[in-house]
Amino acid sequence: MRLYITTAIITLIVLIGIIGYQQKSGLDSTLPIDEEQGGLNDQIVINFSHIVAEDTPKGQTAIKFAELLEQKTDGRIRVVIYPNGLLYNDNNELDALERGDVEMIAPSFSKMTTMLPTWQVLDLPYLFHTEDEVEQVLTGPFGEQLLNQLGRFNIKGLAFWNNGFKQILSSGEPILTAEDFEGLKVRAMPSKVLQQQFKLFHATPFATSFDELYTELEKKELNAQENTISNIYSKGFYKLQKNLTITNHGVLGYAIMMNEDFYNSLPSDLQEEVVQAINEATAWNFEHSKQMNDKDLESLQQISDVQINTLSNDEKQRWQKLFKPIYDNYRKQVSETFLQEIEKEINKK
Ligand code: LMR
Repeated sequence: MRLYITTAIITLIVLIGIIGYQQKSGLDSTLPIDEEQGGLNDQIVINFSHIVAEDTPKGQTAIKFAELLEQKTDGRIRVVIYPNGLLYNDNNELDALERGDVEMIAPSFSKMTTMLPTWQVLDLPYLFHTEDEVEQVLTGPFGEQLLNQLGRFNIKGLAFWNNGFKQILSSGEPILTAEDFEGLKVRAMPSKVLQQQFKLFHATPFATSFDELYTELEKKELNAQENTISNIYSKGFYKLQKNLTITNHGVLGYAIMMNEDFYNSLPSDLQEEVVQAINEATAWNFEHSKQMNDKDLESLQQISDVQINTLSNDEKQRWQKLFKPIYDNYRKQVSETFLQEIEKEINKK
């Protein structure tokens, strides 16, 4: 009995203490929940990881997409962008997406070719001649067909974005002919087609991940690389490799992908907004990517120790002939029909 009375007294003292503290500190459990705070709890966050700088076609289009989606959903969805490989890099972003550790990534289509060999078709050198052709293929039925192949990996393929045409950057002597590649170590993304290009020119391709490229260049073991001007400028590669040759020999583009379970978990009205925002951001990307690369080329032209050359037309024609075995290989080892289809799409105009 005495124990019962003691417990009751202690409980009463504690309760009086709590009420006193709430009154003193202004806390009142009967106060309505802060509306804004409640809204934030319901907010859906899309973490979007990519590996390039913000001031690039991919970086800027990701920002555009985030703005559009937040506007369209009145803040019900917030897109948090992690550029520069802050969250994931080339080596782990795809696994993270498949596991659902990140909701969105945007790797180059070349980096998807191990998983989907048919996608190598997009890497074929001198397949595309203009930005319009790139847009026609990547935003048309052919691009859609490629994106649909992602379904079997628990990935929702949302769109392709463009960066632009790739050029050659080198240390030592400028690259003006196919023979200038002989014996060089050349960084290229891990796509069989890209690697084969340089093997045909008697160079050794080397597939380092993008976030390690600057450090690799500092070791002075890599003699050349292929990349777009916006990547070369924004990452400062030109500080270590000072010869730029305008070759426009291939295209760098991106597959914009979302974890499929995450996409399916969104209410259907929000799924529609995601698709709308992606479509508008994609249109913006194709309108602005060339301008961004042109602007960075102008900046490089202002830097006195960067030498800029353009591959001659004769040499370009030689390269096209020399690259023919890559097309033959694709036809034989991957898909004849895919190549025919993309060529038909390009020649539609
Ligand atoms: C590269 O590795 O050079 C590119 O894929 C980087 C990028 O995403 O633009």
